[in-house]
Amino acid sequence: MNVLVVGSGGREHALAWALRRSPRLGRLAVAPGNAGTAAIAENLPVGPTDVAGIVRAALEWGAELVVVGPDAALGAGVVDAVQAAGITAFGPTQAAAQIETSKRFAKEIMQTVGVPTARWRACDTLEAARAALAEFGAPVVVKADGLAAGKGAIVCETLEQAEQALEAMMVQRIFGDAGRQVVIEEKLSGREVSLLALVDGEHLTPLPPACDYKPVGEGNTGPNTGGMGGYTPPEFFSFYEASHTATTIMQPVVDELRRRGLPFRGVLYAGLMLTAAGPKVLEFNARFGDPEAQVILPCLDVDLLDLLHATATGGLAGIKLPPPTRAAVNVVLAAENYPGPPVTGDVIHGLDAVPPDVLVFHAGTQRVGDRILTAGGRVLHVVGVGSSVEQARERAYQGVEAITFRGRHYRRDIARGS
Ligand code: AMP
Ligand code: GLY
Repeated sequence: MNVLVVGSGGREHALAWALRRSPRLGRLAVAPGNAGTAAIAENLPVGPTDVAGIVRAALEWGAELVVVGPDAALGAGVVDAVQAAGITAFGPTQAAAQIETSKRFAKEIMQTVGVPTARWRACDTLEAARAALAEFGAPVVVKADGLAAGKGAIVCETLEQAEQALEAMMVQRIFGDAGRQVVIEEKLSGREVSLLALVDGEHLTPLPPACDYKPVGEGNTGPNTGGMGGYTPPEFFSFYEASHTATTIMQPVVDELRRRGLPFRGVLYAGLMLTAAGPKVLEFNARFGDPEAQVILPCLDVDLLDLLHATATGGLAGIKLPPPTRAAVNVVLAAENYPGPPVTGDVIHGLDAVPPDVLVFHAGTQRVGDRILTAGGRVLHVVGVGSSVEQARERAYQGVEAITFRGRHYRRDIARGS
């Protein structure tokens, strides 16, 4: 089967790497990809939100399955358009992806089916948002309704901070139209975990749970990023608990979307806070997490192509994955100034020198001649795989030592029990 992966980050490199291992794979392409995917697949020069361009490329290249990675592509309707062209697509339609692309939509679904989540209020004017802040008091969380590259939730310890967040989102529009509406919500506390499951419209197959690290600085300090690292398995949330929680928290959402005529096919991802009152949903995503995919996929002992195809064609009934027997730790190497506008164009050294059992998934990279240059904020995901989290972490940091580029920064505390 010829497969086209849409996207250009570490998640898409990991998907391409895992798909490569399937005996059923024919040709493999990534659009637009990066220097890492170019080494294992054909890169097609089309952006992930260029809907007509993706459809044209899929038809011309002969794709039989299109796997959509990024939220922006789902939000732009890539899956709808690919399906309309008669090609099987992995990922939800634009309407079903609203579970991620609109926080308000997600909250309304959760309320309808009684999924535990923070108390909330959706506001479409500054006045309404200010009134909600006054009612909730501090601490409080202010979220842009739409997509904001993982940076749209601001946890505010004081009402002054919350007022500034509102001003930035609704008046200055730092997230563009995504901030036209906001959701104000109660601040929860507890440990966070990412729960992912494959969903074929009706049935759900849980994947191993994982943890990610959003803040840029060690000890979870500084501004949020797209993710500075991650690991699986979490020591505090087993595969069994994940499977149970998927049944209690995700299945009702899957059922409700189907009831509304918006069957969800793809990866449903719940960002959970494990509070004293049990797990509560912080957000839903409609795709593989990034950087979670880079640790989950290397721990799966299944044919990913079979699994994604079954998901896309309604064939997950009765498919349950065995508990994983490996651990993986992902340390992100970021470019200077990230999560601000990153410095790019620096030469990356040492990619050939990483030890065995270390996978390097590229994110913001570009090949120019025989050199590989930095080309984005998150540059590389260095993933150690082992029989325990400790072993996987050791290997990941050995890989990190081997790779250098000017201005590189990373967190030294990934998978160190926080
Ligand atoms: P989100 O984009 O909704 O996943 O939020 C990004 C991050 O903000 C989460 O991973 C949490 O660390 C934090 N966050 C979001 N909502 C809440 C909440 N209600 N209470 C506390 N922290 C939150
Ligand atoms: N790991 C966070 C995300 O993919 O949204």
